[in-house]
Amino acid sequence: MSARIPEPFVLVIFGASGDLTRRKLLPAVFGLYRDGLLPEPFAVIGFARSDKTDDDFRAETVDSIHRLARPACQDEDACHLFTERLFYVRGGYDAEGIGRLKSRLDAIRAERKMPANVLFDLATPAEAFGPIVDAIGASGLVRSIASSGGWARLIVEKPFGSDLAGARDLNRRIAAVFTEDRTFRIDHYLGKETVQNILVFRFANALFEPVWNRDYVDHVQITVAESLGVEERGGFYDRAGALRDVLQNHMMHLLALTAMEPPGALDAQRVRDGKVALLAALRPLGPGDVAKNVVRGQYAAGMLDGREARGYVAEKGVARDSRTETFAALRCFVDNPRWQGVPFYLRTGKAMPVKMTEISVHFKPPASALFRTPSAKPLSANVLGLRIQPNEGISLRFEVKVPWPSAEIHPYQMEFSYVDAFRHEPPDAYERLLLDAALGDPGLFIRNDEVEAAWSFVSPILDALDRDRVGPLPQYAAGTWGPKEADDLLLADGRRWEILRRPLPHVKGNL
Ligand code: BG6
Repeated sequence: MSARIPEPFVLVIFGASGDLTRRKLLPAVFGLYRDGLLPEPFAVIGFARSDKTDDDFRAETVDSIHRLARPACQDEDACHLFTERLFYVRGGYDAEGIGRLKSRLDAIRAERKMPANVLFDLATPAEAFGPIVDAIGASGLVRSIASSGGWARLIVEKPFGSDLAGARDLNRRIAAVFTEDRTFRIDHYLGKETVQNILVFRFANALFEPVWNRDYVDHVQITVAESLGVEERGGFYDRAGALRDVLQNHMMHLLALTAMEPPGALDAQRVRDGKVALLAALRPLGPGDVAKNVVRGQYAAGMLDGREARGYVAEKGVARDSRTETFAALRCFVDNPRWQGVPFYLRTGKAMPVKMTEISVHFKPPASALFRTPSAKPLSANVLGLRIQPNEGISLRFEVKVPWPSAEIHPYQMEFSYVDAFRHEPPDAYERLLLDAALGDPGLFIRNDEVEAAWSFVSPILDALDRDRVGPLPQYAAGTWGPKEADDLLLADGRRWEILRRPLPHVKGNL
């Protein structure tokens, strides 16, 4: 983690009563505070519509910290000191609400002798993003911060629109108030150490780049599996589905980092230019291609962790006749000289057997006929697995001669594990991202054109699927790897989904 400490600032969280604030933001801000990475003075203003006092907000925050902050930073004294920096403002996302926020901001700054720096974080449901940004713009708050010599920055949490038109509209509204270098769009996957390691692995090692192309790579698989169902988020999820919730964002970034060309330098602009170029090279899936290349599924009742689990349509907040997909798989191609003809298979789903994210690069089988005897099994191809989570690490599978007297050749795997190498679990992605936004470092955030490039690929798929609303979605039992149709997608190409290393059972969040 960066050791730099930002200038004093106030963090304003819109949607302070929400799930994201409680589960992720406040425990992460506390983790930073506890580790001495926040400046003094520093303050948080929670802003939301519900009626509550500073003390209510503080008590709720203490509860979140106890339940959800990293075990290593549980510290009662620090928690007490932290809550003295928390304030709450009730208000709507309109001129009156923003007016109240401004008065409280001024009062806190004057009392604590703080500069005018403000980091706004939109942690509300996505429908409120546009209205909040409009209201901040109309209030003149950003101009008054600038004229007092401070900075105003905006953090936007996903989803950035629910289609290409929505994303463009949101980008336009943001640009009217905040310049792009002051806008920090969070995709928390980019805050994960293992995701940042993709470019390091590819370009800091001379061994892999020469074979990272269509001459050596047979295909690439990316799996983002979750063992939980939709839990308490049925209402939100039923309007989103797996394609919008995970594939359009987290998976598009994993794909872009895995396949992009080497950037001229590892700076924020050039890395993001490279990702945009890769996303723009994705072969569009037109209406005629979607049925052949995209599979959706919905979980039915099944067994999760040895217990009976209900099906998706029986979840709270979900329409009983819902056709929202909780699983999506697709085959896509990158039309550029490096990847021409190499399929990339992506799949994501809820209620699957384990929680795990893995990227695997499957190399072509060995060309040599040396080992082909009538009794010998065909040799398996080399596979390189980048395990994003959990049991973060890297696997490399290769063939080995089994010692005499056996005459066989078997595939074995070499394993690198982050925990073994560095003796601690990677830090929470949100801590890194919040700190970088406070420092004004844009490297791990999504640029406006990246959002639009990802939507340009996914929006036409959603449109085609919307037009084809006949019949039920393929079902899969909770606790399985998705519908049979997803296996057929690869079988048709003579391939199958593979997990290189299943998570160990003791890892948090796993079944
Ligand atoms: C979020 C999705 O963006 O990512 C959730 O909205 C999903 O539905 C989550 O559960 C997965 O994140 P992680 O870090 O647990 O893989």
